[in-house]
Amino acid sequence: MAGFSLPAIVVNFKCYLEATGRKALELARVCEKVSREFNVTVAVAPQFTDLKAVTKETSIPVFSQHVDPIKPGSHTGHILVEAVKEVGVVGSLINHSERRVSDEAIKAAVERLRETGLTSIVCADTPETCRRLASFNPDIIAIEPPELIGTGIPVSKAKPEVVTGAVEAVKLVNPSIPVLCGAGISVGGDVAAALKLGTKGVLLASGVVKAREPYKVLADMAKSLVGALG
Ligand code: G3P
Repeated sequence: MAGFSLPAIVVNFKCYLEATGRKALELARVCEKVSREFNVTVAVAPQFTDLKAVTKETSIPVFSQHVDPIKPGSHTGHILVEAVKEVGVVGSLINHSERRVSDEAIKAAVERLRETGLTSIVCADTPETCRRLASFNPDIIAIEPPELIGTGIPVSKAKPEVVTGAVEAVKLVNPSIPVLCGAGISVGGDVAAALKLGTKGVLLASGVVKAREPYKVLADMAKSLVGALG
């Protein structure tokens, strides 16, 4: 298990069957191959049940899709930060558009991850939300307009003002928090556009997970990321 560094392409496996169980591991291996070939950080966020296999069998950074801000003890059906740490993840997404939690829970999860030595990627739907959540001092913020998620319409091209707005909003609160963007990111050019708008990478899912040839798509993205860093 490698550490996590930016810029990065973070692939959220969501609950897609194409990235579940044995297929999660296969896709993580494709991500690992691209990461090695292009010397680019490619991280993955598989389902909880696949975290252990992916951290054990690959060397890329692995994120949990969610954690609950609970302390160890009498809780049932929750995801404990210490538990995901023990299987080797480097951090967790928090407040993904498909797994929204309250501001109070976001703040507490960021703190729990930090005290456990894990990285928090807090998702936000608008620049205004980014500004509000930046005050919790997460390690990374990901701007993802929900209306573009899963559409194949890239936020970095369709709504560049949302991405730059998020970058600016976060900078005003805490300039040391890097911003990722996601929603509809599908080809290399979308990644290059994201970097040009001031982000440190992308958070994506369907463009890679549901691609007929994930390797080709991801390799194109990695190549563009390297090119954009120029
Ligand atoms: O977490 C990534 C995500 O919500 C974007 O999804 O399918 O539009 O890349 P997608």
